[in-house]
Amino acid sequence: MTGLFITIEGPDGAGKSSLVKKLIPAIESMSERSLVVTREPGGSEIAEEIRNILLNPGHTAMDPRTEALLLAASRRQHVVEKILPALSRDEIVLCDRFVDSSVAYQGQARGIGMEKVIAINEFAIEGLKPDLTLYLDVEAEVGLARIRDKQSNRTQDRLELEAVTFHEEVRNAYHMMIQKEPKRFITIDASKNQDSVFEAAASTLSSAIEQFERKNS
Ligand code: TYD
Repeated sequence: MTGLFITIEGPDGAGKSSLVKKLIPAIESMSERSLVVTREPGGSEIAEEIRNILLNPGHTAMDPRTEALLLAASRRQHVVEKILPALSRDEIVLCDRFVDSSVAYQGQARGIGMEKVIAINEFAIEGLKPDLTLYLDVEAEVGLARIRDKQSNRTQDRLELEAVTFHEEVRNAYHMMIQKEPKRFITIDASKNQDSVFEAAASTLSSAIEQFERKNS
């Protein structure tokens, strides 16, 4: 398997979705390989159905471990149906959120424990690791304010409705993961404007893809 697996992570309101849209043509110009762009929770038909259960604002009774297990179940389906086949075709996969999101949101912010969440996800992914993770760093208050500004266009999902302390815990967890795996994570200051965030992400990806192509040539 010689595909390249890239994930994008960050607290709510970090600007992942807008960045992903801009990165698509940029990555396509950096490599001849096909690019598969996907997201979690979701990314395949069954996984998207689980996503609807997870994000439904009416599901206030959802237990944290149920939430973590549903996320891992949808991830399993996504990995098997979409990510692994693309990597085995030697393609580039760009995935908006992956296991790190579960470790931050369910492990730390929901209080299940980061190690426990890593363990249930290991069952789901069987050792699959991103080659590179772009982490968009933004303070919880700033991210949540951005979401509130956008609110006239869309309703908030169940996880976005959590208090600011929950989102601060999410950010702390990402910082802990980065300390543990400094090589995999590239931190980008997402408090800056969209153009600067895009420039930083594109230049990181350009060198990573170049290095990857050199290794595989
Ligand atoms: P996402 O669609 O990425 O929303 P946004 O683009 O607003 O960040 O994710 C939806 C929510 O699901 C978001 O609040 C993060 C949460 N989430 C988890 O709690 N755990 C996970 O493993 C994943 C993938 C997402």
